Amino acid sequence: MSSTLHLIRSKIKGFFPQPRPPQFIMLWVPGYEAIPMSIAGYDDGNKTLDIIVKPIGPTTRYLAAIRKDAYLGIYGPLGKPLVPSGKRFLLLAGGSGIAPIAHYITALRCGEENYCKVVFGAWTKEEIGNVDEYIKSIGAEVTTVCDEGCDYRGTVVDVYRGEDKEEYDAIISSGPLAMSREVYKHTPKGKIDRLYIVFETHVKCGLGLCGSCVIPGTSLLLCVDGPAFPAKQIEKVMK
Ligand SMILES: Cc1cc2nc3c(=O)[nH]c(=O)nc-3n(C[C@H](O)[C@H](O)[C@H](O)COP(=O)(O)OP(=O)(O)OC[C@H]3O[C@@H](n4cnc5c(N)ncnc54)[C@H](O)[C@@H]3O)c2cc1C
Ligand code: FES
Repeated sequence: MSSTLHLIRSKIKGFFPQPRPPQFIMLWVPGYEAIPMSIAGYDDGNKTLDIIVKPIGPTTRYLAAIRKDAYLGIYGPLGKPLVPSGKRFLLLAGGSGIAPIAHYITALRCGEENYCKVVFGAWTKEEIGNVDEYIKSIGAEVTTVCDEGCDYRGTVVDVYRGEDKEEYDAIISSGPLAMSREVYKHTPKGKIDRLYIVFETHVKCGLGLCGSCVIPGTSLLLCVDGPAFPAKQIEKVMK
């Protein structure tokens, strides 16, 4: 997809329940670790599951270069589905935060019954790659943001500040915490109850057992209560 984002489409063997965004899986990579990965897409007919990987350490680097015939272990879908109602959606994505947003595009029936605009940002044009073409192909409009050569020069938040938030029934932010905090800050008070944040913490068990994924300042566990939350529910972390 780009210099830092790799789409991996796996054939599922065995039973896998229909996932809803922003659910994730624990992916067991033989010889490496079990790591959390957002579900970027799922085709029940062909039994294929998409993930989008950004290599940052040993397991994700291995995945980014994985052989076509390799086997992976999957358990899931994990987490709580959170799909807002409405007809018009603004979806904000930074880096690998695009993975759950891709799943939202299909679940929200963007380009069919509903209108969705994606603002996708990365540091460079190379990191954007052809992700914009992919987003368009699954039904959403897209504005790309990077340092040079994209639709907009700057950050996702710069574009968000210029958007008329009243035009949208719901806004979803999926990216680094600093980005979502800025999104929260620039959301009018009357719209906060329609803002949803896809969060990331360290997930180990994925089952609500180890406590490693607690959302700071709350008693919420990302792996069972999230990974998306209404902004109002996690206001303490957003401020
Ligand atoms: C619910 C959820 C969904 C995710 N979805 C995706 C996805 O769709 N695509 C994707 O590329 N990545 C996703 N991630 C992040 C991914 O799980 C980590 O990048 C991966 O575990 C890193 O493993 P590694 O062995 O390659 O690197 P490691 O050696 O484990 O980590 C490399 C560095 O990154 C830090 N790090 C690892 N995981 C995280 C994290 N979750 N948050 C902050 N810092 C971290 C480590 O502390 C270390 O400094 C998701 C994480 C969560 C919790
Ligand atoms: S990862 Fe263990 S409780 Fe959430």
